[in-house]
Amino acid sequence: MKTIKIFGARQNNLKNISLEIPKNKITVFTGVSGSGKSSLVFETIGAEAQRQINETQSSFVRNRLAHLGVADVDKIEHLNVPVIINQKRLGGNARSTVGTATDIYAALRLLFSRMGKPFVGYSNVFSFNHPQGMCPACEGLGYTSRINVDQLIDKNKSLNEGAIQFPTFQKGGYRWLRYAGAGYFDNDKKLKDFSHEEWNLLLYAEEHKPKHPAKEWGKTMQYIGLIPRIERDFLKKDSKEYKLRKNDLQKIIVSGMCPVCKGKRLNTKVLSATLKATILQTVPRFLSMSCCYLSAHYLQLHMKRYFMS
Ligand SMILES: Nc1ncnc2c1ncn2[C@@H]1O[C@H](COP(=O)(O)OP(=O)(O)O)[C@@H](O)[C@H]1O
Ligand SMILES: [Mg+2]
Ligand SMILES: [Zn+2]
Repeated sequence: MKTIKIFGARQNNLKNISLEIPKNKITVFTGVSGSGKSSLVFETIGAEAQRQINETQSSFVRNRLAHLGVADVDKIEHLNVPVIINQKRLGGNARSTVGTATDIYAALRLLFSRMGKPFVGYSNVFSFNHPQGMCPACEGLGYTSRINVDQLIDKNKSLNEGAIQFPTFQKGGYRWLRYAGAGYFDNDKKLKDFSHEEWNLLLYAEEHKPKHPAKEWGKTMQYIGLIPRIERDFLKKDSKEYKLRKNDLQKIIVSGMCPVCKGKRLNTKVLSATLKATILQTVPRFLSMSCCYLSAHYLQLHMKRYFMS
């Protein structure tokens, strides 16, 4: 069974053609536009392979697999399980990955939901794009952006000397008053001399109303630490402030692997479901990789490792 045998393909404009395609080799279909490449590859071979897989599944599963229609062909022999990649361009979207673009992820989600121990939910919760599946810390992206305090603050300066190195927080800036005027700090004290309490208050305090603020402090103004303030005012990616300050933000923000899911994108509950075969615990990691980072080299390397060995 070294070849896939196709008999009497008549999909769309195909003229009752029969052919053999060698396995374990790269086969390329070429021809002018409209000659029938897609009709043969997707609508005949792909559709028949998909139909054969679907037939082995219960109706519950069948309803969740892709439907490619029924091919107009007499028969196809020795088909393997296919990985069908569509003709759309791979988007630069961080939520489309090697796995989602190829449908491998959908098949693995099914596998994990049915065979994974313990049972943590149906296949949809194995998606990092699903609210019940995604890691809450990174919202399913696998990486987080956090503020680099050393870049944000010059400890050798006082608040009056412009210790907070970010627009609108510098002396005279309108956010500056929210720290210098809170009544909490000696504005001439260098930040390196701040006590532990002062430091925490400056950086991390939750929103509250200060008891003895400066007279310029507005009646309804609340105090909140620098880090949560920047996160709230600037880090929402669709916010006006984010767009306005993108370049300044880049200086104070470091992106890195999500500390909670370690880049796996799923929450701990979903990740607790495992399969015995170790290869299947490794593959989803690769499948979660964003298409943006996908290079031909990487794909080649990993395809070899995971699928050819
Ligand atoms: N869903 C369809 N229904 C009817 N005709 C189609 C359909 N899809 C493609 N065709 C026709 O089949 C022929 C081959 O198309 P296609 O397989 O897409 O060619 P290629 O991929 O080589 O450009 C074209 O004449 C096209 O118009
Ligand atoms: Mg085509
Ligand atoms: Zn995460």
